[in-house]
Amino acid sequence: MDTILVTGGAGFVGSHVCKALSRSGKKFVVYDNLARGNRAAVQWCDLVVGDLSDRNLLQETIERHSVKSVIHFAALAYVRESILYPNMYWQNNVSGTKNLLDVMAETGVRHIVFSSSCASYGVPDDVPIHIDCDQNPITPYGRTKLACEWMIQDYARQNEWSYAILRYFNVTGNDPDLDIGEVHEPETHIVPIILLNSLNFHQEPVPIFGGTLPTADGTCVRDFIHVTDLASVHVKALEHIVATNVSAVFNVGLGKGTSVLELLKVCEEVTKKRIPYQMANPNPGDPPCLVADPGKVWTALNLNPRYTEIKTMVEHTWQWIQNKRPAWIKLKQQSIDSGSVC
Ligand SMILES: NC(=O)c1ccc[n+]([C@@H]2O[C@H](COP(=O)([O-])OP(=O)(O)OC[C@H]3O[C@@H](n4cnc5c(N)ncnc54)[C@H](O)[C@@H]3O)[C@@H](O)[C@H]2O)c1
Repeated sequence: MDTILVTGGAGFVGSHVCKALSRSGKKFVVYDNLARGNRAAVQWCDLVVGDLSDRNLLQETIERHSVKSVIHFAALAYVRESILYPNMYWQNNVSGTKNLLDVMAETGVRHIVFSSSCASYGVPDDVPIHIDCDQNPITPYGRTKLACEWMIQDYARQNEWSYAILRYFNVTGNDPDLDIGEVHEPETHIVPIILLNSLNFHQEPVPIFGGTLPTADGTCVRDFIHVTDLASVHVKALEHIVATNVSAVFNVGLGKGTSVLELLKVCEEVTKKRIPYQMANPNPGDPPCLVADPGKVWTALNLNPRYTEIKTMVEHTWQWIQNKRPAWIKLKQQSIDSGSVC
């Protein structure tokens, strides 16, 4: 059976996709430098610890495992960090992706699914955001994602590859079985940030960036998608481009907006605790409203999202945070202390 290379498969989204690949009987191998990922998240295949900058190791991995397609998650993915260190983002995300594409071309790998982002749109003229909306990213992170989209399209044209570019909106939720889950130190996504705060004895107020934005309650509006549904999209998208040899670009969201204040109320309902918050100035990298027009993604891939309620997404993250995340944090700390990668 042909093997799929999953770059960044030790990370949050990548590990959920690995579980979905395993459930659909696929053979795959994870390639991850573990800078932001977790060894414990790689449960269904071999892990090659390596960086996208290491072309020899990439080539050796592709050849040794007879890789025929790639799902490419490996990237730095924090908007605010990218504003502080744009060089790091261009080096890791864009040079790293160029290495990967060069090695794919050299080894004859012809299919790639790429994790792009709604950050590639910048501040959209129209909401919901249609797939053909202009892409004018306003942060280095968003610009690196757009640069990678263009690079993939150019390599694909030259080498006759097929690709799926998936522009995700806000990914949240958790594997409901709690086999895997989100562990970043520190957490950067809004749902775990709010939920972790509710566990904090001292309860520092959660900073809510906004208050004066042109939205109904003045805070950012986002389109949340459950990571398990996003994982199914990857499996189907890969099957689709391999079977048809036709490329596709999809917005992956539900087309439903939830404001950060609404989200906070849902978190209070789920945790049954009051969660104090404090309004802070809007962030330069945060467009007021990012809601997808998911258009054809669900029909084209013959899928239905399973978890469409924000409350369910928050419940799954809450279960993970209470039951499994502490042990994973301990593991991560032990491997940092012992000097090995986690
Ligand atoms: N999580 C979201 O809400 C979201 C939204 C839109 C797009 N995305 C994209 O989805 C992908 C996965 O995001 P995530 O939230 O799982 O992030 P993550 O940080 O949890 O996972 C990324 C993984 O890539 C690995 N990695 C990074 N640079 C690498 C390199 N040079 N070589 C090898 N491995 C490397 C990290 O160690 C980590 O395991 C990213 O490309 C991100 O830009 C995520």
